[in-house]
Amino acid sequence: MADDTAVGYENILVEVSAPIATITLNRPKVLNALSPDLIREVNEALGELDADSNVRAVVLTGGARVFAAGADISDMADRTAVDQLQRDQTGRWAGIAAFSKPLIAAVNGYALGGGCELALMCDLIIAGDSARLGQPEINLGIIPGAGGTQRWPRTAGKHAAMEVMLLGAPVTARRAYELGLVNKVVPAEMTITAAQRIARQAAEKAPLAARMAKEAVLKAFETPLAEGLAVERKSFYFLFSTEDQKEGMHAFLEKRRGVFKGK
Ligand code: CAA
Repeated sequence: MADDTAVGYENILVEVSAPIATITLNRPKVLNALSPDLIREVNEALGELDADSNVRAVVLTGGARVFAAGADISDMADRTAVDQLQRDQTGRWAGIAAFSKPLIAAVNGYALGGGCELALMCDLIIAGDSARLGQPEINLGIIPGAGGTQRWPRTAGKHAAMEVMLLGAPVTARRAYELGLVNKVVPAEMTITAAQRIARQAAEKAPLAARMAKEAVLKAFETPLAEGLAVERKSFYFLFSTEDQKEGMHAFLEKRRGVFKGK
């Protein structure tokens, strides 16, 4: 994708300003409710950005007012279990969690249900002070279906997870920060620029190292310690085959800033 291009999707906006890109969920009339088409477009856009070597970090936002009020209830209300199984509604979100570059959520307003789960799939979360994160599915007679019951307790612990799941009430940005769900809380009007600043910071780092760091950290949630340590060790050794490792270490010794090529 070329610089500063708004690529034509119907439910999202994609702006590339190398070395970062910003994806904005764009269904404002329904508070960015996550229709299957929107999720497909986010997946497609991330696939393109993953393949674009000019892009090294991505911000995912819902804009100034709301992140996303969850999966689209009008799309789900009359579905049967078999419908849901056959179309694998939330299985399709796996591509988002698999994005290989730093992915930073910029959350203003509500991030509820699937909206909260989408934010939790990102690597860092920058929240505006207006943000409200929660899993209100219990109010609809269902439970989270895109990772909420698993990612909340892994980050915020069992009791906070139970509180949001069982009571259905969201937490404030400040509480989310205290629970470790959110990296930083900023005034709402600053959220997107703060996330973009952090994305640019991440984009200066060695891309292959970032990719392996991300893979290794995510492994920590899925494997026993010994297996995770083995993955880390192999990635650590592998990085000594990269030009970026030579550049990074020689730049340090020569007292200059490393310039990384992702090679
Ligand atoms: N799906 C479809 N439409 C939605 C929606 C959703 N998740 N959330 C909001 N909307 C629509 C509303 O129906 C309304 O449309 P109309 O103007 O046509 O009536 C519009 O967006 C504005 O919403 P409200 O009038 O309700 O706005 P509000 O400021 O009074 O309330 C809110 C905001 C508290 C977020 C409220 O909209 C709400 O509770 N939304 C639903 C939140 C929810 O339950 N999310 C979980 C969905 S299930 C899920 O996500 C499953 C999963 O794990 C994948």
